[in-house]
Amino acid sequence: MHVINARLRQRPELFSIHIDEGRFSKIEAQESTLAATDNAIDANGKLVCAPFVEPHIHLDAALTAGEPEWNQSGTLFEGIERWSQRKPMLNEADIRRRALSTIELLVQNGVQAIRTHADTTDPTLIGVRTLCALRDELKDKIDLQVVAFPQDGMLSYPNGLKLMEEALEIGADVVGGIPHFEYTRELGEKSVKLIIELAKKYDRLVDVHCDEIDDPNSRFLEFLACEALFHDMGSKVTASHTTAMHSYDNAYCSKLFRLLNNSGINFISCPTESIHLQGRFDTYPKRRGVTRVKELREANINICLGQDSIFDPWYSLGNGKLLRTLDYAMHICQMMGYQDYASALDMITDNSARTMCLQGYGIEVGNAANFILLEGHDDYSVLRQQGEVLLSVRHGEIIMQRQPSQVITQPWITQAIK
Ligand code: FE2
Repeated sequence: MHVINARLRQRPELFSIHIDEGRFSKIEAQESTLAATDNAIDANGKLVCAPFVEPHIHLDAALTAGEPEWNQSGTLFEGIERWSQRKPMLNEADIRRRALSTIELLVQNGVQAIRTHADTTDPTLIGVRTLCALRDELKDKIDLQVVAFPQDGMLSYPNGLKLMEEALEIGADVVGGIPHFEYTRELGEKSVKLIIELAKKYDRLVDVHCDEIDDPNSRFLEFLACEALFHDMGSKVTASHTTAMHSYDNAYCSKLFRLLNNSGINFISCPTESIHLQGRFDTYPKRRGVTRVKELREANINICLGQDSIFDPWYSLGNGKLLRTLDYAMHICQMMGYQDYASALDMITDNSARTMCLQGYGIEVGNAANFILLEGHDDYSVLRQQGEVLLSVRHGEIIMQRQPSQVITQPWITQAIK
């Protein structure tokens, strides 16, 4: 495969990209625009980018909104209740069908790596089993990581710890947790210690739903970061959501950031989900309830973005488009200074790949030839236009292609412009 007239991020010139045996073999700047040929894909000056990465989604719950009841209050806690009602209806065919439809939607929007949570607070562990099997089945097409996630609490749910361990035996890649949802602070802290112990015992990554609440006193993040630091495993540890940080006192945050930096842990924010679920106990002013994405970025702490939900009990919209998620984050977190645009795409590409510890990610000679082609010629135009993903290539093979939409402009506007 050979791609011509491609633009790469932060580079103004055009490039030719050569691919041999599924890997990037040569990437060279062009002196001028090359004529299209039958043997080459003409990028036509558009941006070739590393694939989008979805680091936080719940495929076992996706596409279940309204079954059997809608979340009327819009709170996270009613979402958990509605999910408890849906759980007894789960079976392998049901999860598989919905997970595959959601994966298809993500692939259509340029995603090639997904980290999904799978609820372990279910004695059958059907979500974990089905998603681990799907991961193995689809391994040539996408990178799928499965998090053993105790939705109703690792220590507060009957046999929760045993089920977590069973999920890791089945093959879950990542140890999850939800300390702020355990019955007490003590149980929450104990759960964090157990998460780290399990990760060490089974040699797995860690991704904790951490302080997903507006309560400024929910401070399991410092506990998680400290455990990660003392066990020297920060790069393998992720704190998801951390919405309580939105409500932390600034002086406390200043002290906290020192620990976060030293620990080297990763962060995932899900801005569409958090702006929808948080602030529900406020009148006015109403908190945005999204973690301090801008400040974490400025402190050089790795932070990326995920969708969390697509049409499920917690969030009944969602369309697989990470550019939409990024657009929300930039608005909600006030990251719209011109300098923010240049690196914003990192939050749905490079930073997410680092969080998931993906190997050989990025457009570099020797790496697997995985890339997408975006409408727009640089980061800024991609963000502003919110264009479609036109092409997705994995190991040098096209896995998704889209015809760009065409607008037929009417004469009244063209004449007026003249
Ligand atoms: Fe989540």
